[in-house]
Amino acid sequence: MRLLYPDASRQQRVTRRNPTIRAAGVFAMEIAVAFTSVNALAQTPISPLPLSDKYFKNVTALKGITVDDFMGAMGLYSAALSMCCGDCHVGAGTDNPDWASDDNPRKRKARQMEQVVQAINKEHWSGAKAVTCWTCHRGSGSPSVTATMDQIYGEPLSFPSELIQQAPPNAGVPTLDQIFDKYITALGGADKIAALTSYTAKGETKAYGPVDRTDPAELFAKAPDQLTMIAHQRGGDMVRTTDGKSAWVKLPLTVVKQYPLTGSLLEGGKLDGAMAFPGQIRKYFTNWRVGFPTSIDDKPVWAVQATGKNGLLATLYFDKQTGLLTRYVRHVNTADGRMPNQIDYSDYRPVAGVMMPFKFTYEWISGREEYSITAYTPNAAIDSSKFAEAIIAAK
Ligand code: HEC
Ligand code: HEC
Repeated sequence: MRLLYPDASRQQRVTRRNPTIRAAGVFAMEIAVAFTSVNALAQTPISPLPLSDKYFKNVTALKGITVDDFMGAMGLYSAALSMCCGDCHVGAGTDNPDWASDDNPRKRKARQMEQVVQAINKEHWSGAKAVTCWTCHRGSGSPSVTATMDQIYGEPLSFPSELIQQAPPNAGVPTLDQIFDKYITALGGADKIAALTSYTAKGETKAYGPVDRTDPAELFAKAPDQLTMIAHQRGGDMVRTTDGKSAWVKLPLTVVKQYPLTGSLLEGGKLDGAMAFPGQIRKYFTNWRVGFPTSIDDKPVWAVQATGKNGLLATLYFDKQTGLLTRYVRHVNTADGRMPNQIDYSDYRPVAGVMMPFKFTYEWISGREEYSITAYTPNAAIDSSKFAEAIIAAK
């Protein structure tokens, strides 16, 4: 596929693909915030949080939404425009970030754009998030107005939809039963799966970016749907956790240090918990569809997708040959459209007779972490204080 861009936006593509440049802003911001002694937002109450315009100081376009949704929108802005937080917020990346008061021209433009997008969706799509920042921007600050001749006569640009349709019977794809049956067998069989009711794991996680940083990592998981992932970072523990009812994130190095997930984001957090025991995942949804054959890293995979509550979209990719799960993507619905999370699994080895991934990469809108597990402890006794609000509140 040929991708030809005028110079300015090409430069942005290059920047975007270069992990060092791309992630520099985010990490600089983390470090900066970590060293800021007085952070206006540091006194986060544990639960519940006020809505965006009450919680933040200078919010007029993204009003009346939850804090997790608001932070998702900031991530989606950055992703759609290939920008860092510091491109709109003066001082992000220094030890004196100004998230609220500096209404510079670009921030004002973004706020105006937010209003435009809300108006378009309200007027023409009954409020559905049909048009998003990405619809026009596609990684560029100034969207191109016209296709180039190379685009017109070359190979088409491809931006596949995240929605998967059921492939027709003649498309040569297996049935849902065939895919899941093969998966269960590949994992070690239904009996072994049923006998694994909890596990802990230890290992390390490497953050993606200019700082070559590896932190100790821990997992706690209890069937059917409780999961806590902890990265013991130098500036404090980064935690993602769910007890199957609520879900939280703790991000000590960023602007909002901890918050509960709500609405569609909560459905996503809960699904992560259920995915800690993916042998049971088929029953989690009732509307699976099998997509056309596709591939990941040149390996053929079967794609299945289901829709959950509040616009949750779950997509699983199974290796055609081994039958094991290679990728799990979930999209949640935010104020600015669908927000993806992706986990890629590899290095499967048996633990109490069940194949478990010893490596996985967790990618979300604000970062990417590569986990390497050194040991799983199957059927460990895990106290309820390891999950949800209890672990977030723990020092
Ligand atoms: C394209 C510009 C843009 C980018 C990039 C961006 N923001 Fe924002 N940010 C805004 C705008 C606009 C507002 C005000 C929104 C409103 O008025 O509803 C805002 C508001 C905020 C606020 C609320 C501050 C307050 O108290 O009023 C925080 C916190 C914030 N952004 C954090 C971030 C973080 C963290 C990132 C990077 C992940 C980021 N932003 C990336 C444009 C941006
Ligand atoms: C309907 C298409 C469209 C959508 C949707 C859209 N934009 Fe834009 N945006 C534009 C265009 C066109 C420009 C360039 C305007 C110009 O050159 O003055 C622009 C410019 C901008 C700029 C200024 C860029 C710079 O280099 O300073 C920002 C910031 C911005 N948009 C943010 C957003 C955000 C945030 C969203 C989603 C809430 C969004 N836009 C959605 C079309 C769109």
